[in-house]
Amino acid sequence: MSTTARVTVFDTTLRDGEQAPGYSLDVSSKLAMARALDALGVDIIEAGFPIASPADSEAVRQIATGVRRPVICALARTRSQDIEEAARALQPAQRARIHTFLATSDLHLTAKLRMTRQECLDSAVSAVRLARRFTDDVEFSAEDATRSDRDFLCRVIEAVIDAGCTTINLPDTVGYATPDELREFFQQIIGRVPNSERAIFSTHCHNDLGLAVANSLAAIQGGVRQVECSINGIGERAGNASLEELVMALRVRPDRLPYDTGIRSQALFGTSQLLSTLTSEPVQANKAIVGRNAFAHEAGIHQDGVLKDARTYEIMKPEDVGQSVSSRLVLGRHSGRHAVQSRCETLGFALAHSEIDEVYRAVISLGEHRKAIGDSDLRRIVDRVRTPASAAAAASTATHVETVGYGHGV
Ligand code: KIV
Ligand code: ZN
Repeated sequence: MSTTARVTVFDTTLRDGEQAPGYSLDVSSKLAMARALDALGVDIIEAGFPIASPADSEAVRQIATGVRRPVICALARTRSQDIEEAARALQPAQRARIHTFLATSDLHLTAKLRMTRQECLDSAVSAVRLARRFTDDVEFSAEDATRSDRDFLCRVIEAVIDAGCTTINLPDTVGYATPDELREFFQQIIGRVPNSERAIFSTHCHNDLGLAVANSLAAIQGGVRQVECSINGIGERAGNASLEELVMALRVRPDRLPYDTGIRSQALFGTSQLLSTLTSEPVQANKAIVGRNAFAHEAGIHQDGVLKDARTYEIMKPEDVGQSVSSRLVLGRHSGRHAVQSRCETLGFALAHSEIDEVYRAVISLGEHRKAIGDSDLRRIVDRVRTPASAAAAASTATHVETVGYGHGV
């Protein structure tokens, strides 16, 4: 019998992610993205913040109409108009969640909201009660939870659960927490709140210190069973926890992290690429899991290892996350002879030993001037090496190989 616990994946690409500069999406792009998230297997799609704009509201309505399997969630402050607008936009949903939020830290209460703690508590409770009139699935987020007074935070949580809240999200809004701290935070709060077993606890980590994924994993170890995250880690400022990194950490390390998600990992790369195309924002090359270098090896020693046994330098297979195996060995100035030979064989060239040496030298030389050498470059090099008239020239100087202009495409 499996002892693996299920963690719910709450995707906020279309809400927190879309709020980030450069990532805004029109309604039809949001719908396309929501369909991709459905195919990826996320449990909950946070589709937008309906009170923020008519376009946001329309996007939530269209997603609620067209995407039927996941829970569709809409964000609302604790104000009645926000909650009513969220409920209106969610009306067509098969399964709807209203997500209402209010800051609980003294800093936010005094400097931003100008509210007392009692007003905060009352407002949170009324919002949850109102939201429950529209749906049984209500989430409350205590914004800036990790910098809130714990006694007060526990009082708010207990009160909103009593008011009918089913998911308690405790965001690390400014990405300030450390992993050990967040694990202890959730353990303590879940242990202290008397009715905590009546709600699912959730984490929502920001990446200001680059710790969002590590913090989310620690929160799971501390007892949360919902993670809020986004494709490519997009979100306010440095972003949210990256969905693909979280999911693959759980998939690759079940020995340390025995938790399952419903994500189809083979769809991760395609979903990441879709977001990049829709927003015209490239994915950072060395981004874990979905960056174009995430499975690329250029150094000769690494290429040799991967050709002998990929496990030497890969902890997961590119195809497990939807990346192409053929992009694995990048030819450039650090490449080894073994990789050059292997790529030639893949392209259908059976070369003699001396020819491989020549091709290898030409590749290294061309790599001095080029970031990467593509298959068309390699074909031209092989042609020259194999054509007697130019073979001598190709072998004579490596620079000549470059100046005669091998290829354009990489
Ligand atoms: O970071 C945050 O606190 C939020 C809440 C609205 C959930 O995005
Ligand atoms: Zn956030």
